Amino acid sequence: MEWMIHETEIFVRRELEGESSGHDWWHINRVTNMARRIAEEEGADLFICTMAALLHDLADDKLYESEEAGLKRIQEWIDQIGVKPDEQEHILTIIKTISFKGGHGPGLSSLEAKVVQDADRLDAIGAIGIARCFAYAGSKGHIIHHPDVQPRESMTTEEYRNSEGTGINHFYEKLLKLKDLMNTKTGFQIAEKRHEYMQQFLNEFCDEWNGIT
Ligand code: ADP
Ligand code: NI
Repeated sequence: MEWMIHETEIFVRRELEGESSGHDWWHINRVTNMARRIAEEEGADLFICTMAALLHDLADDKLYESEEAGLKRIQEWIDQIGVKPDEQEHILTIIKTISFKGGHGPGLSSLEAKVVQDADRLDAIGAIGIARCFAYAGSKGHIIHHPDVQPRESMTTEEYRNSEGTGINHFYEKLLKLKDLMNTKTGFQIAEKRHEYMQQFLNEFCDEWNGIT
């Protein structure tokens, strides 16, 4: 099993080379480490969580022509290295569940899916989440903040991507909601600390914006 994980790491690194849309290798690496940590606490299957975390962002239409093409590539890979059919099925279901935008994947069907989704979401909050948010905003040509931009919580990610956003808006649209969407107790505990850190950041940002501090 260890060598399958190792080979998959090499495979993912190669696939993501030159990828700059926020799905870089270090995101994958952090999510994988976090998934393993949560899996151990929650008693989830470590191999399944590790493999799903490593492969979770490859089913992205930014990398391949379509999500389906990405999933096919993942399936071919895990088949090629000899992952058992029922485990292949499980890994693919997790990736479908957590990676599809707009929530049209299957529901969260297993503890392992819950663990990997928590790990992925934790990487969007806290200090790392703040950094990723502004890196993403910059890459889309969005500004940091505009006082006229009202947080509109009903917007979908897709609408938001197409709209004129700001980095700060994304906190209200998504990042501040993630804590309460955690699936596992371990994920929630880590999210609480990161959530508080984001709130502190927003308070400080607001005070500096208004020239108070
Ligand atoms: P993931 O890699 O977890 O599937 P996404 O592809 O949705 O995440 O987003 C990558 C990163 O960019 C995340 O940290 C996310 O919060 C951030 N991001 C996504 N959309 C926006 C946005 N409209 N404004 C600012 N940051 C965003
Ligand atoms: Ni991700």
